[in-house]
Amino acid sequence: MKRSASSRQWLRRHVNDPYVQRSKKEGYRSRAAYKLLEIDDRDRILFPGAVVVDLGSAPGGWTQVAVKRAGPTGRVVAIDLLEMEAVAGARFIRADFSTAAGLAAVEEALGGSRADAVLSDMAPNISGISISDQARSMALAELARDFALAHLKPGGAFLVKVFQGAGYEEFHRSLRTGFDKVVVRKPDASRGESAELYVLARGPRAG
Ligand SMILES: C[S@@+](CC[C@H](N)C(=O)[O-])C[C@H]1O[C@@H](n2cnc3c(N)ncnc32)[C@H](O)[C@@H]1O
Repeated sequence: MKRSASSRQWLRRHVNDPYVQRSKKEGYRSRAAYKLLEIDDRDRILFPGAVVVDLGSAPGGWTQVAVKRAGPTGRVVAIDLLEMEAVAGARFIRADFSTAAGLAAVEEALGGSRADAVLSDMAPNISGISISDQARSMALAELARDFALAHLKPGGAFLVKVFQGAGYEEFHRSLRTGFDKVVVRKPDASRGESAELYVLARGPRAG
């Protein structure tokens, strides 16, 4: 099959990407793992014994990092629409987090515990229609925020991927209202040309 010029360009960039090469060498399933590693090295979200929820987990790079850092006394619950090969030490749920059934499955896996960290790297399938892609991406971030506000322990951390664009400022404001501290991170592994940012909010406020 003949590839288009843009897919050839993507493939070349992917193969030459230092984070892709590193992930192959170090056994991470995605280059995304390095985004979480870098943020966690700086902000210390994950620790031994932590209860972690990983929203939009496939193929599992963040889940691998969370399991490693939460250790054998921690608990990691991961959910994705797509199938994901098991990560030892994590409980994976294949479901749509935006449905009542998906939410209930995550809550059941938590077994009544609150989380130390809620991570969301969820991203919708890109349609190419930027207005609707941005709206769907913000809707996922809002769902993750509401889950974090309801399920984090006092002092817990919420890390979420967002794209700068329509709805971002309001979303950021809502985090500043809902949490004690909010910072924005753009890890090196996040491509410079991408509008992607990670927002870290800590300390959910009651009510
Ligand atoms: C960028 S990938 C996550 C990469 C992952 N953090 C890693 O390190 O391997 C985004 C994921 O979000 C998932 N996703 C999007 N919408 C979702 C939803 N409603 N429920 C569950 N997962 C969803 C996608 O299926 C996709 O696998």
